[in-house]
Amino acid sequence: MTKPFLQALKGETLSQPPMWLMRQAGRYLPEYLATRAQSKNFLHFCYSPDLAVEVTLQPLRRYNFDAAILFCDILVIPDALGQKVEFIKGSGPQLEPIKNQAEFDAVIKMDGFHEHLKPVYETVRRLSTEIPDTTALIGFAGAPWTVATYMVEGKGSKNYEEVRSIAYSDPEFFQRLIDTLVDRTASYLIEQANNGAECLQVFDSWAGVLSEPQFIKWSIEPMAEIVKRVKAVHPDVPIIGFPRGAGPMYERYVLETGVDGVGLDHSLPLEYARDHLQKHCTVQGNLDNLLLVAGGEAMDAEVKRILQVLGDGPFIFNLGHGIVPQTPPEHVARLCALVRGEV
Ligand code: CP3
Repeated sequence: MTKPFLQALKGETLSQPPMWLMRQAGRYLPEYLATRAQSKNFLHFCYSPDLAVEVTLQPLRRYNFDAAILFCDILVIPDALGQKVEFIKGSGPQLEPIKNQAEFDAVIKMDGFHEHLKPVYETVRRLSTEIPDTTALIGFAGAPWTVATYMVEGKGSKNYEEVRSIAYSDPEFFQRLIDTLVDRTASYLIEQANNGAECLQVFDSWAGVLSEPQFIKWSIEPMAEIVKRVKAVHPDVPIIGFPRGAGPMYERYVLETGVDGVGLDHSLPLEYARDHLQKHCTVQGNLDNLLLVAGGEAMDAEVKRILQVLGDGPFIFNLGHGIVPQTPPEHVARLCALVRGEV
């Protein structure tokens, strides 16, 4: 069975681009909230295959997206490494911060990692048999830099000053942390592919705060190593990188990491993406997630512009960042109809 999403990642230009949306399973859907209420906390939810399979499938039933993304979270990696991770309602993730080598040595353990993540692999395995024949299954992980921001600062940061400072002042410790994350993330992604993931996306959501040398060292180099390790085992599983906010560094990221596809954030000019990126790999994006909240003519016009500029090359329609909870589900339906040429 041909899957348009995978065709696009092979470099084919399709007359109608495949589409899915980052965070397509989430709090904007009432059925998600109902399933979520059955679990005592968010991590437990991620580690419950019955519930994780169900919420992964929910957006497909409504919108028939071309890809399903495993329901999980990027912070299961620090959790599986032994760091304390909690999701506090209303204030996001909270971790016991690790700011130096001594704290790293006291907390981080390498054994039991895959055992801890077994329920995630089971979710992937079940999804691979339960999704429709034309839908592709995406596995994912956070990029080392983005995961490290949470591990070091202990929560979602406002300005990333602390983690960027530590990366400068204690590069030995920070390199150890990143190397550990490269190793575990590659291994985690390989295991997802072993269990049926047909594509892997790596979210570097906070790449945009890095200086040029830091971007090369903490975003490009770790990603290049992850791609190399995953491709050594699964040469045919495409990899999408999402270096959100990378601006003009997007081109080097694509050229030097070896990704098959790249996720564009909403700030990236479309002509830049067409002229500098689309000749090297498939591009994915980049409707502003807040324009999906607003809807109306402004959204219609921007969708048309994106399709016009990027539609003549290998392209997957998506948002520039994940769906936010206040998104009206009927705006998502309208977006699907627009991309599919039905309205
Ligand atoms: O549908 C999908 O895209 C799959 C599921 C998914 C989640 N998180 C579920 C989730 C994916 C791909 C992620 C990735 C993720 N998690 C990222 C990278 C992508 C991005 O959005 O930048 C990051 C930075 C995280 C870390 C994270 N997880 C934060 C900061 C938060 C709290 C903020 C918030 O949105 O509430 C989470 C929680 C989280 N992860 C929720 C969901 C659906 C909401 C929690 C809930 O239901 O109570």
